[in-house]
Amino acid sequence: MNSTNFRTALLVFMVLFISSVSLTAQDMDGKTIYPGAVWPDDRGNHIQAHGGGIIKLGATYYWFGEYRAKDNLPEFRYVGCYSSTDLVNWKFLKKIQFSDPENLGAGWVLERPKVYYNNRTKKFVMYMHLDDRSYKFARVGVAVSDKVDGEYKFVKSFRPLGLESRDIGQFIDDDGTSYLVFESRPTRGFYIAKLSDDYLNVAEQTCFISAPLEGGAIVHYNGLYYAIGSALTGWDPNPNKFATAKSLEGPWSEFKDIAPPESKTYGSQSTMLIKVAGSKDTTVIFMGDQWRPSSQWDSRYLWMPVEIGEGKLKLPEPKPWKLNIKTGQVSVENK
Ligand code: GAL
Repeated sequence: MNSTNFRTALLVFMVLFISSVSLTAQDMDGKTIYPGAVWPDDRGNHIQAHGGGIIKLGATYYWFGEYRAKDNLPEFRYVGCYSSTDLVNWKFLKKIQFSDPENLGAGWVLERPKVYYNNRTKKFVMYMHLDDRSYKFARVGVAVSDKVDGEYKFVKSFRPLGLESRDIGQFIDDDGTSYLVFESRPTRGFYIAKLSDDYLNVAEQTCFISAPLEGGAIVHYNGLYYAIGSALTGWDPNPNKFATAKSLEGPWSEFKDIAPPESKTYGSQSTMLIKVAGSKDTTVIFMGDQWRPSSQWDSRYLWMPVEIGEGKLKLPEPKPWKLNIKTGQVSVENK
């Protein structure tokens, strides 16, 4: 074994080791994020918000995602809704239940839900990837609620810009403009589309990025937009990549690896980038899923602050870390 192979093997071993550690609520100090570990909510249950998205209202963050608990009833799909003021401790608010809204049949799919708050209509608008078991339906579904953790009423499904849409991502720019990111197989790329005034539709194509990537996540940092996507390998992890652009419309740079490719993004897949702008520092957090396809309820989260700036973005090796939500500063354990 040469030294590169040895380092890779060691890295993979460490990632697997960290992932296998099952911390309980009692073990946790309420300040540290443990990438890849069980992440208990305020009830002590592993958070169910896979393929998730986060919005911030006032000082509170709301995390929505696929609620894939073991005891889910098979005919329904569920979206988990949690709140936090520090991004570490999450309070369970609601398990939002949906019944097959488009007669998609057994094995129907509701994935990657994202919620936007519309200031004009005062409604919470949820986008979701809706599909049948063979992923041919390829549409977004839209559901609306008066309360963040209310009853989301299904409104409609559609193909954004008339295109097949599978993985979706959410991007809210610094000025509040809201975009849907979606992957389209036939055109081998992903789209950034601005939402309509009421958020119930997409108004226009902002950009088409010609790269066969999904799990699209975007952040605006220090005058540059950074987009991350994962290759199309289903539940299996792959080397996620990033590109940059001065404007959302592009042109976008070439895509480059965010982590050593052999680590396959440390066994995770991108879902979102969150920016925490504090009084002293601005931190960007990579939110990824470590999927466990045959025990989805036990899928884990890999959240790590990224090294970002001047056109570069790097996801460091996962280690426990702390975030000061007020100052925006981060400290990573150096064990
Ligand atoms: C992934 C996608 C997931 C899920 C999965 C199904 O590529 O990101 O959200 O759809 O495929 O195989």
